[in-house]
Amino acid sequence: MGSTLKKVSQLLVSKKYLKARASKPGVNKVKHVNKGDACMYRITDKRDLSPIDYFVEVEAPHVAKAWKPGQFVVLMTHEKGERIPMSVYKNDNGRIGMFIRKLGKTSYELYYDFKPGDYIYSFVGPLGKALKIKNYGNVVFASDAVCGQAENYATLRAMKEAGNYTISIQSFENAANVYPEEFLAKPVADEYYLTTDDGSVGMKGHYLDVIKKLIEEDRVDIIFAGGKLGSLAKLAELTRPYGIPTYTTVRQIMVDGTGMCGSCRILYDGKVKFACRDGPMFDAHKVDWEDVLRRDKRFVELEKIAKERYLKSRGVI
Ligand SMILES: Cc1cc2nc3c(=O)[nH]c(=O)nc-3n(C[C@H](O)[C@H](O)[C@H](O)COP(=O)(O)OP(=O)(O)OC[C@H]3O[C@@H](n4cnc5c(N)ncnc54)[C@H](O)[C@@H]3O)c2cc1C
Ligand code: FES
Repeated sequence: MGSTLKKVSQLLVSKKYLKARASKPGVNKVKHVNKGDACMYRITDKRDLSPIDYFVEVEAPHVAKAWKPGQFVVLMTHEKGERIPMSVYKNDNGRIGMFIRKLGKTSYELYYDFKPGDYIYSFVGPLGKALKIKNYGNVVFASDAVCGQAENYATLRAMKEAGNYTISIQSFENAANVYPEEFLAKPVADEYYLTTDDGSVGMKGHYLDVIKKLIEEDRVDIIFAGGKLGSLAKLAELTRPYGIPTYTTVRQIMVDGTGMCGSCRILYDGKVKFACRDGPMFDAHKVDWEDVLRRDKRFVELEKIAKERYLKSRGVI
């Protein structure tokens, strides 16, 4: 009897506590906390890169051991979270770095609810095909959004070690969105270009403008690129007439990330390929970009609802 009373009073106390929490603006009603003993992926660093992007570093030895440029991971912040793919790179300290954009529910959740010392529930990888690292000559890496910026550094570092002349181009919207110097690809580039749409820092323009000029000067042997899908489609059209090998990330919506669900299918050279298993980097001249852009918008309404629900529960909106 005593123990039943104890259980009832505990229940009442916790209900009261939850009600009080819920009524406080800015307090998350359902905060998922992963226990370190059950989860291996400790967050060791987390910083703002800009008002929209942030950096997260985690301990994930199995990924660090096997990862090669071009490969990605699929993570879950907590047991009930969604699986989201992320580009990663290996830091000199052996940990895994990610650049993440605050875009929807999960990326906001990781930003607001997790801090260094907390644990990420699941971190599967490395997934996808690694890039072929060899001496191509003059190698360009261009990026204009968060996933490409992480890959820019990692790929050019490996290409430089393989004896290539490396050219990095990083494009941002404006000066406020440019990352701190230590997160840019400058140290691994023999030639470096920073562009902003409004010219508030670096060159005014986009990586497409710089590549156009480099092609006119006949200084490009191969191009790799990541970032906004619309720009990658334009890049494919820009380099096609010159026959310059162009490889870009096709960041299609993924679910399992291992080739089982079919969500990330793309039309490639007239055949169906899976971005997770056959990519994520593809020969841009063989990709059906119209189909890629259309399929990327499949869940826009649902994503909007999930984001608003989370931000409201957090008191952010
Ligand atoms: C190979 C690969 C590498 C990526 N690397 C990065 C990275 O380095 N940094 C980064 O910020 N983002 C990266 N992304 C995109 C990232 O997975 C999505 O931004 C993330 O899933 C957003 O989840 P959300 O809940 O915050 O937003 P949501 O509201 O769920 O989604 C917002 C937008 O993100 C994209 N997206 C959502 N879910 C997925 C999914 N499961 N697979 C692919 N795209 C999705 C869609 O375009 C969607 O419209 C990568 C995606 C892929 C496929
Ligand atoms: S994400 Fe399921 S097949 Fe690629």
